[in-house]
This record gives sequence, C-alpha cells and structure tokens, in this order.
Amino acid sequence: MRAPHVFIETFGCQMNEYDTELVRSILTANCYRFTDSADTADVVLLNTCAIRENAHNKVYGHLGALKSLKEEKGLVIGVLGCMAQNLKKDLLEEHSLIDVLAGPDSYRALPELLEQAAVGQKGMAVDLSEYETYADITPKRVDGVAAWIAVMRGCDNFCTFCVVPYTRGRERSRDFAGVVREAEALAASGCKQVTLLGQNVNSYRDGAHDFADLLLAVAEVRGIERVRFISPHPKDFPEKLLEAVAGHPKICKHIHLPLQAGNDRILRLMDRTYTRAEYLALVEQIRTCCPEIVLTTDIIAGFCSETDAEFTDTETLMRQVEYHSAYVFQYSERKHTIAARQYADDVPAGVKAARVTKLIEFQRGISLKKNREMIGKTVEVLVEGEGKRSCDQWMGRTDGNIVTVFPVSSAIKPGRLASVRIIDATITTLYAESV
Ligand code: 5AD
Ligand code: SF4
Repeated sequence: MRAPHVFIETFGCQMNEYDTELVRSILTANCYRFTDSADTADVVLLNTCAIRENAHNKVYGHLGALKSLKEEKGLVIGVLGCMAQNLKKDLLEEHSLIDVLAGPDSYRALPELLEQAAVGQKGMAVDLSEYETYADITPKRVDGVAAWIAVMRGCDNFCTFCVVPYTRGRERSRDFAGVVREAEALAASGCKQVTLLGQNVNSYRDGAHDFADLLLAVAEVRGIERVRFISPHPKDFPEKLLEAVAGHPKICKHIHLPLQAGNDRILRLMDRTYTRAEYLALVEQIRTCCPEIVLTTDIIAGFCSETDAEFTDTETLMRQVEYHSAYVFQYSERKHTIAARQYADDVPAGVKAARVTKLIEFQRGISLKKNREMIGKTVEVLVEGEGKRSCDQWMGRTDGNIVTVFPVSSAIKPGRLASVRIIDATITTLYAESV
C-alpha cells in the first residue's frame, strides 16, 4: 500500500517553522511521506499562528480553498499550532472540514490522530504540558547552512496583549548538555549557523546554567561559525549576557529588543515590566558594551486607550534609538488575554492604521539611511545560497543579519564566510562585490 503523503504549510513565527520540522520528524518515523502540494497529498496540515487576527484570517482562507479537494478525494485536514490550541472545539464544530486538531505540546499524538481520521474519526489533542520540550526528537531539517534549535518553549510573562502564554503554555527549558550535543551534531553535518529559539529565549535556565552560558557553549562548538538568538525580552539582559554578545566573535552582533510602546502608562497597561527610561538605559548599555550592535524591534500601535500624545512617545523613542529595522503591528485583540478581559479595544481602526503607517514610513527612512552608511565598507557575509531574484547572485547575511547579495563567483560557496564590499543599498538589502 502507498504510504500516505502529507503536505504541511506553516504560518507565523520561527518557532512554528521549527515545530513543522519536529512534526516532519515524528511523521516520517511513522511511515508518512511528504509532498509539496495539496493536490498530491492525502493529508494536509496547517501549522497555524494566533498572534494577530490577520494570521487567523489567512488560515481560514486556506481552509476554504481546500474544500473542493476534500470533497473530491476525501483529504484528511489537520490544524496544528497556536490556533488549534486557542480555538479547541470551536474549530472542529464550526468548520466540518477539519478532522484533526493538535496544539503545540501534542505533536506526539499526531500519528494516532491521523490514523483515526483516515477511518473517519475526528480527534483532537490540545492539552498543554509543563514538561514537553521534544528534546529527544531531532527535527527533520532541510539540509543547509543554518538551523534552529528551540532551547525553551512557552512563556510566563503574560504581557496583557499576548496570546502566547495561553497557546504555548508555561515556560520550560531544554537540558543544557542536550542542546550543546544537538549543536555538535549540526556542525558535523555541515551546518554553520545556529539560531537559539524561544518565546522568551533569554529566560532560559537549566540548573546553574543561564542563557549566557548556553550561548557561549554553543559558540564554542567546533564548526559553528555563527550563533544567533530570538526573541529575547528586555527584562532579562544581565551584564554577563551583554559581555557574551560583545566579546565572543561567533555570537552575532544583533539584538532584537521588542519595545512594544514608548509610553510609560501604555507599557504598564501592557505589563511589560520596564519603563521608557529603563529601556533606553538598556539600549545605551548595549551600545556602550558593543558599539557595532544592530538593534531591531517590535512595536504595537493603537493599544487599548492609547492617546495621540502617548503614541508620539513611541515615535520619539524610535527617533532616539534609530533601530536598524522594526516590525510594526496594529493592536489586535486576542481571545483569553488580560487585555481582552479587562480593557476596551477602543482606538478606532483608522487611527491604528494611520499610526502604523506613520511609524513604518519613518522606519523606512532610518533603515535606508543605516544601510547606506555601510556603502564602501567591507563586511563578512555567511553565504546561504542563490539570491531570490537571480541565480547569478549569492545571498548571505552580515553578522548584524542584514541581507546582502553579490555576484556569484566560483571562489565562494554556500556555507562559507565571504568578505564583500558594499557598493549599494536599499531599505532591506545590501548590494556588494567580492574582495
Ligand atoms: N496585537 C498586535 N501585535 C501583537 N504582538 C503580539 N500580540 C499582539 C497583539 N495582540 C506582536 C508583538 C510581539 C510580536 C511577536 O507580535 O509586537 O513582539
Ligand atoms: Fe507574548 Fe510577552 Fe511572552 Fe513575548 S514575552 S511571548 S509578547 S507574553
């Protein structure tokens, strides 16, 4: 009998991409095979995100598009990830298209759920676990230059706008030695860059080892040229961590430092646990310790009751810090969150949109300015592969994570560090020549 073929689509953050690799590993071990389109699949899995409403809408759109295929050939449809966790039974009842639901801590149950679904029995596994880290499962990665390792899962911060603590549960860290062994195995298979992942990555702890220890240990693995991490919270930046980033040549000089808002009252309502002044002091400390650092951020515009004047505080902070790039989001009320239960989502949609546009426009100018400042400089790029636009170009990233493209030359191969000179720049991309 032909092994059932699975098509899996991933929405949302890098943790979801990583979880898709875990699911591929679990299903491969259970004799499933993978395919790259729904047309050739027996099972379609959507690994979903719930962080903002548009993430939800995208998934509903994709589900609708699968309707005719399901009717035609009895496709099994599964919804995985945060949306499955958050919507639980609603999703099974509302959309009869769905056969299987599995939350982020329930992927080990997938083979059994899919088996039952194949004989017509719908099922779900959405319990959150205090322990599940999938530490014994090696993700089925696409072989390449860069890989992720999830070192912790879940989040205990409960920022009032955020659904993650509800969809991904309590914070838990993987064991230190296991992560280092995984990095060693990756290096042995030719991987050059490891990104340590976690919803709150710098709150990692295993016994006496904290996140700085882990970062340094992975950076010491032979064959690994670069170590990155995402996403940290500004509350967990002891000096030891800053010194590790500044001092170790293999730890990339890039920190993503989610701000969310620049006004103290809004930060308090969000329960971010820092003030504007404390955040700015941290930025100052980071830049003093590591002047070449590339800083990026996340911003939410139009949070509950944010006034024009309070919004302006976010704008002025962005002006002051001059991030290299920023993700700017409209506040989107999420079910179950503290904000949804306690505050009114009262900033009109048009005002939210105008605030987002204003910040994005401002940031584009700064990003362009910062990238243009790099023209004439020689930088090291880790070559990842062909450029998106042309196979005559290599694409790589600088230490600060800026996409750089340059003409293909036989002397340079993916997986190598190349010295290139920047000759031009746009908002998102550096153009370079080999030196
Ligand atoms: N509305 C808008 N943006 C949100 N984020 C998280 N929750 C929400 C929400 N309810 C943003 C934050 C976070 C990023 C991953 O997504 O900026 O840092
Ligand atoms: Fe959400 Fe805050 Fe946890 Fe980040 S730190 S995942 S924003 S609750």
